[in-house]
This record gives sequence, structure tokens and C-alpha cells, in this order.
Amino acid sequence: METCKILGVCSLVIGLAAGVCSGQSQQPLRASADERGFFIGSAVNMTPFRGETIYQDTLRREFNIMVAENAFKFDATQPARNTYNFTDTDALVDFTQANNMRMRGHTLVWHNQLPAWLTGGSFSRDEAIAILKDHISTLVGRYKGRVWAWDVVNEAIDDSTGMLRNSFWLRSIGPDYINMAFEFARASDPDARLYYNDYSIEGMSAKSNAVYNLVSGLKSQGEPIDGVGWQMHQIAGFRIQPQNQTNAQRLADLGLDISITEMDVRLILPDTPDQLQQQALAYGDAINFCLTQSNCKALVMWGFTDKYSWIPGTFSGRGDALIYDTNYQPKPAYFALKNVLEQGLDLSPKITDAAKSGKRLLISGQRFEDGASLFINGEMQNKVSNDPQAPSTSIVARKAGKRIRSGDILLVKNPDGLSSNEFTYP
Ligand code: XIL
Repeated sequence: METCKILGVCSLVIGLAAGVCSGQSQQPLRASADERGFFIGSAVNMTPFRGETIYQDTLRREFNIMVAENAFKFDATQPARNTYNFTDTDALVDFTQANNMRMRGHTLVWHNQLPAWLTGGSFSRDEAIAILKDHISTLVGRYKGRVWAWDVVNEAIDDSTGMLRNSFWLRSIGPDYINMAFEFARASDPDARLYYNDYSIEGMSAKSNAVYNLVSGLKSQGEPIDGVGWQMHQIAGFRIQPQNQTNAQRLADLGLDISITEMDVRLILPDTPDQLQQQALAYGDAINFCLTQSNCKALVMWGFTDKYSWIPGTFSGRGDALIYDTNYQPKPAYFALKNVLEQGLDLSPKITDAAKSGKRLLISGQRFEDGASLFINGEMQNKVSNDPQAPSTSIVARKAGKRIRSGDILLVKNPDGLSSNEFTYP
């Protein structure tokens, strides 16, 4: 009932009817996202990824897409000229493959986190182009077919002027470094989705106009760009406004996707219940927006637990910006995402198959809860349990395997009262 209590609070906040509690499942975010064909994800910090079991467990349970917080950046992947390090990037990509998740590659071209050999070197324009090409082709080529989308160019617009930022790449190559970057990426993986990514460009503003002009220019020159990433580093109080739809729509009209790529909602520390509710509203709005905007493909957060977030180190006195607290407990923001993702879905358990395994009956499907009851031809059998040896979508009824016959009707009822379909044993 604890879940129900939390959800009760949450449902008040996001303005849903009180009845929401009885229909709530225990299913993770990704199960609902998978059903909708939507992508919800997190950035990954290598330290807990390697060191804390619960970190990986949460990633694979809750998310169907991820991105590296730092591991794919230039300084990490090419620490010395022509010397690449793929230890972390390989581990991340392997993890997504093993868990049927998608990967975003972040980022190929940026003004930050460049190695000293690059920024301190003196290169001719041709040499700089060769370095850019080698870096992009090496990364995109290595992960061809395994990285779904790349942030090809990150943060190229200057905040105050709206012109191209005075970066290493602009100084070394000139403004067409952007065109080249997209072309090199496309040549190395024709199927990867190629993004321009930036912050403070979600609404209608001078900066988002500058980005719009940049990407519409790229499109009209025939450059291979597929989308724009909205980083979405926000503060409590943020709500989706009509201007977000207007901005998304003008990008859609250019034939471009958007993705929310680095969402967090920072609070003033120490946080308060009121701030946590504000934060929940922001996350709920963002996912609702992305699900209803036809060109929005994914919502990725810049981490998931407040234990690991860049915010306290960058914005003094701010933090608690993510959807799990420092003890990996879901916050109101988590339940706001969950509520929106589950709206309109049928949350009852579902049997898709059943088979004997000795005396046991193995039932496959989804949304089975531990302690659910099994009925055969209307007669209640023993309780069923999630079996560690069985796939996660299966449950086991002990001894029921002895009794089952072809043509028998199976039904599972979860402890919360939701009943499955009636399944005829083959
Ligand atoms: C940040 C990481 O979170 C930090 O760990 C790192 O020290 C600096 O970069 N916009 C981006 C991200 O595109 O790459 C940044 O990530 C956060 C802002």
C-alpha cells in the first residue's frame, strides 16, 4: 500500500482523479514506454555503472535508452592523437545490446572536454579537418548499427550573440565544420539518427531562433541532419508552454525530429516537499509533451539518481534534480512520469503462454505480481511466484503442472484485484 500512498500524493499534484490508485500497476517506466513505442532513458556515470549493482539493475529495469554522461566525449575516446580508448564505450554499448536498449552517442563535436593535444596543438585547416573526420568516422563506424542517434554537434551557438560560438572548431576550420561533421557521420553510418544538440532552446527565444536558422540552413543545403536535441536543464517551476509546441512544430515542418536529451530539474538545497511537487509537474509536463508531439522521439534525463548528478558540482547550492533520491528511492517526479506513461494502457496482467515443467506450471506474459492467484477452470489454485530462473515476464505455479490438461482455462488475478485474460491451455 505504500506505493498507493505515494501515488495518492502524486495524483493530487498532477491533477488526476483519486481513483488512479486502484488502476496503478507496479510496472517500471520502460514497460509502459515499450508498449507505446516510446524511448525513456538516462545518462550513465561510469563509476556506479561499474561499482553498484543497483545502478545497472535500475537502468535495465526502468529505461529503454541510455547515453554516456562523459564516456563518449573527445577527451575520453581519443586521449592522445590517433590513440583511441573504447573500454567504457564498448561496455556501455554492450550493455544496451544485452538489455534490448537503444544508445545515444554524445557527443562528436563540442567546444568542451577536448584533449590538450588538440586544443594546445597548432594545426592547419586541412589537418583539423582530417582530425575531425578521423574522430567521427572512427566512433560512428565502430558503433554502426548499435548507436541509434548521435549528438553530432553540441552547443555550437553562442548564448549572447546567437552567432556560432568561438570554439576550437570554428577557429580551426570555419563555419562549415558543422556541415562536414554531419557528412562524416552519415558516411560512417547511413542509418544512425543525426542530431544537433543544445541548451536553452526549448521555447521561442533568440537562441532557439538561431538554432532554427542553423538547422534550416543545413536542411536547405541538403546536409544529413535528422533532429534537434533539447537538453532541458530546467529549474523548479518549469512548465510546458504553447511556445514549446510552436518551436517543436517549426522543426517538424523542416522534417526534423526532436528529442529531450539531458533533462533535469534542479532544486534549491535543501529541497522541500513543495519543490519536489514542482519538480514532478515539470517532469510530468515534459513527458506528456513528448508523447503527444508527433516528432518527439525520446526523453532522456541527465542521470536518474540524485546520488550522481552534475548539478551540485556546477550550480552551487542546487541539486536533487533527478527522479530517484540518493538512496535510489523513487521521488514524486518518478511517479509523475509513470502516471503519464500509463495513461490509457491496459494495466491488467496478461497470459500469452503456459507450459508444464515437471510438476510446475510456467506461465508467460506480463504484469504478474508476486503472490498473484492462479485459477484453473475457475478454481483457485496455489499462489504463484516470480521465479528467478524463469524470464522476468514469467511466473511459476508449483504443483499445478500435474493437474493441467489441454483445453483448461487459466486466469491470473493480481493481489490488487486486476484479472488477466482467460487463456486456454494448448
Ligand atoms: C557534463 C557532465 O555531466 C559532467 O560530468 C562533466 O564534468 C561536464 O559535462 N551539456 C552537455 C553535457 O551537453 O555533456 C554536460 O555534461 C552537461 C551540459
